[in-house]
Amino acid sequence: FFHTEIPEGLRRLPGPKSLPIIGNVLEVGHKPYLSLTAMGKRYGHVFQIQIGMRPVVVLSGIETVRQALIKQGDEFAGRPDLYSFQFINDGQSLAFSTDQSGVWRTRRKLAYSALRSFATLKSKDQEYSCYLEEHVCKEGEYLIKQLNTVMKADGSFNPFRHVVVSVANVICGICFGRRYDHNDQELLSLVTLAHDFNQVVGSGNPADFIPILHFLPSATMKAFKDLNARFNKFVQKIVNNHYATFDKDNIRDITDSLIDHCEDRKLDENSNVQVSDEKIVGIVNDLFGAGFDTVTTALSWSLMYMVAYPEIQERLYQELKIKVGLERTPRLSDKPNLPLLEGFILEVLRHSSFLPFTIPHCTTKDTSLNGYFIPKDTCVFINQWQINHDPELWKDPMSFNPDRFLSADGTEVNKVEGEKVMAFGLGKRRCIGEVIARNEVYLFLAIMVQKLHFQTVPGVPLDMTPLYGLTMKHKPCHLRATLRGSHEH
Ligand code: HEM
Repeated sequence: FFHTEIPEGLRRLPGPKSLPIIGNVLEVGHKPYLSLTAMGKRYGHVFQIQIGMRPVVVLSGIETVRQALIKQGDEFAGRPDLYSFQFINDGQSLAFSTDQSGVWRTRRKLAYSALRSFATLKSKDQEYSCYLEEHVCKEGEYLIKQLNTVMKADGSFNPFRHVVVSVANVICGICFGRRYDHNDQELLSLVTLAHDFNQVVGSGNPADFIPILHFLPSATMKAFKDLNARFNKFVQKIVNNHYATFDKDNIRDITDSLIDHCEDRKLDENSNVQVSDEKIVGIVNDLFGAGFDTVTTALSWSLMYMVAYPEIQERLYQELKIKVGLERTPRLSDKPNLPLLEGFILEVLRHSSFLPFTIPHCTTKDTSLNGYFIPKDTCVFINQWQINHDPELWKDPMSFNPDRFLSADGTEVNKVEGEKVMAFGLGKRRCIGEVIARNEVYLFLAIMVQKLHFQTVPGVPLDMTPLYGLTMKHKPCHLRATLRGSHEH
């Protein structure tokens, strides 16, 4: 890479000197979102590091990232062939595989329209505006009951452990037409292990870049492979069951609709991109995987911020009490009337930046950015954390302040400010679950804020230090919740 000819008029990428074999692994360290943000201050918004033998370009700054992912979208829309990605969804993942652009685009469109049909389109049930609302309202009610039961039995609860089942049930309902009990061991053993997954696929994991590490025993890597194998088996079993009971006249869920698509496609000889049945039905594996951990992490952090800032929790409760009341379940249609809740969610996304980097990208051809030459097949990290904490964009970026998103009189969310928060990526690879995710986080939170008052466990200090990964979690912890109205008003 260093010896590459630079085309005339372009410059060589700046960046730190690197060591043989390990490259800049030591400087990148265990908190790449901080170390790479600091390097950006020194080298600018486009710079290059080496992880192992492999060059990686790191992008920060909202303008540079917009230029790359939107204006030069096609050139930056690839995925690199990283070691860990081959174990996800048997190497057939929509989000992580190196599928060629035609195949990826076809699958992405299919995934998008399947999500639309089974989440955001109007549901048949007159009572709900869409399937997503129906699933979340029902699961929200179960969650309140579950937290109440656990509080009575144990006096405290682990937020991630319980929220994850409710969120997994929403995406299971959409994808597979079924839900699981809060104590279902098969589901729990899959969904509570997401941390092993996230640690391995977080940007900058040396094992993805230094081939010799593949041959050394690693407990984390073994757990990662096992988890993926179990995850794939879990989904495969459900898919087989759907094939066995498939009825063209009764499409029950996303799995059925993808099977149906395969059948239709066999009749359509004009389709120009060939995608195998496995790759089509396998989309459901990605939707399920992407759909529970991210949303659970957002909700779990939200509960942490609510107990860390009790005065904000109280304001959220008052807003709900006045605008929705305490008699009925909040709905999606209440959202415009709850600006503080929306500002709070935006601030959780910004301040935690729990997806500090997008999934790594890769250039699809030789290109240039801000005058620097970047060859084809270069791995690219997008530093979302940096954008969300950039003092050029945010006043007092390290402080947690939902009011930063509200109009002066507090009655409206400032849309332009809200759009500066980078959580779902941008451009061609932008998250396809964004609308679902935002609505789901909003509705679960509205339901919880209305019914429960959350607190820390007395004498146990709150630790908000994130654990690094693709999605960053807070450390396992316990909180308390009391039913609103039982001990207080
Ligand atoms: C990709 C964020 C929820 C499905 C992504 C990416 C980010 C992201 C940052 C990578 C973008 C890139 O590589 O540039 C989030 C956040 C969520 C969330 C913060 C929740 C708060 C969801 C949900 C679903 C979903 C609920 C599905 C139901 C996907 C898929 C991709 C993706 C399929 C891969 C897209 C591709 O590679 O073309 N998401 N996501 N996400 N997300 Fe989400």
